[in-house]
Parts: sequence; structure tokens; C-alpha cells
Amino acid sequence: MTGATIWLTGLPSAGKTTLARAAADRLRDAGHRVEVLDGDEIREFLSAGLGFDRKDRDTNVQRIGFVAELLASQGVKVLVPVIAPYADSREAVRKRHQREGTGYVEVHIATPVEVCSERDVKGLYAKQAAGEISGLTGVDDPYEEPESPDLRIEAHQQSVEESAAALHALLGERGLA
Ligand SMILES: Nc1ncnc2c1ncn2[C@@H]1O[C@H](COP(=O)(O)OP(=O)(O)OP(=O)(O)O)[C@@H](O)[C@H]1O
Ligand SMILES: [Mg+2]
Repeated sequence: MTGATIWLTGLPSAGKTTLARAAADRLRDAGHRVEVLDGDEIREFLSAGLGFDRKDRDTNVQRIGFVAELLASQGVKVLVPVIAPYADSREAVRKRHQREGTGYVEVHIATPVEVCSERDVKGLYAKQAAGEISGLTGVDDPYEEPESPDLRIEAHQQSVEESAAALHALLGERGLA
């Protein structure tokens, strides 16, 4: 089957990991080979030692983009729930896929910061507010919203299953599911 990278970009606690796992389950059930490259896991080994300044965030995204493309080129559906705050970093990953003739789909998980900071799955928004950390994406660090993603999901207005179905439908339209 045709592989592709499906990048889920959005703020911390937007629902990227949650949706990636739900979408992965659907794809597996439909017989696809699937991998999930989650930002947190990647930072534990592949990107261990990298920080959160602009340069290191870009390096992290390019490394993930490299691995994702390799897997996708071998027929795997690769879900990438990674913040990827900078538009030029995301564009470089898209271009790498285009150069290699590998499918690439950008999904913006567009949960607004007010909702994300209430969910605050990892307590980062609270820590930032308390002055314990700085450089939190969308609060005191940039998040450049995708201007024309392949799909924008208002993840705060619909259930996880509805979001996963919308993504699955798009992949179907593209001949990827
Ligand atoms: N409709 C929804 N879609 C996605 N997540 C939802 C939705 N409603 C509630 N949630 C909850 O919001 C939280 C989103 O957390 P998740 O870890 O998926 O975010 P994330 O974008 O991966 O964040 P991070 O960048 O910090 O890894 C989960 O606890 C999830 O259950
Ligand atoms: Mg996550």
C-alpha cells in the first residue's frame, strides 16, 4: 500500500497525540502498516539533548521528517503528532517528501490556546503561569499557524472519533486509505 506522512501540528494539549492514536487504530483496522512518531518519545532518544530554542526545534522537526519520509517511502502510514511551531520547518519537511515523491498530509489541530491551557495535560501552562518555565509554544514562544493545511480540525468542537473519521475521509480522497 502507498505510504504517507500525516503530520499533526498544533499547540500543547491540542489533542495531537490523542487523534494520532485514534487515527492509527482506524488505519491498522483497515489493514495498513502504521507507525506513530510522537514528539515526546522522539525527544527521549532520537532528539535527546536538544532544547526548545528555534534552532533545536527545527533540528528536531527535520530529524523526525527524515525518519517519517523513510518509513513512508516503504509503504508505512506515519502519524506524526509533533507541535512543529515554525512554518518554514514544516515546509522543509513537505519539500523533502515532494522531492522523494512520498505522500505528505499536514493536519492543523486547531484547538485554541484557552482550551489547551485548561486541559493542560502535562501541567506546562500552569508552570509557565507560575514562572517556573518559559518558552511555552503559543504562550511566550511562537506558534505559526498553518495557512493552508490539507485539513484543519477544530478538535475542541468535535469528538476524537469525529476528528479521526474526518482525517480518514481525507486520506480516502487522496487514495491513501
Ligand atoms: N475532541 C478532542 N480531541 C482531542 N483531544 C481531546 C478532545 N477532547 C478532549 N481531549 C483531551 O485533550 C487532551 C489532549 O492531549 P494530547 O496529549 O493528545 O495533546 P497533544 O496535542 O499531544 O499535546 P502535547 O503537544 O503536549 O503532546 C487529552 O487528554 C484528550 O483526552
Ligand atoms: Mg502529544
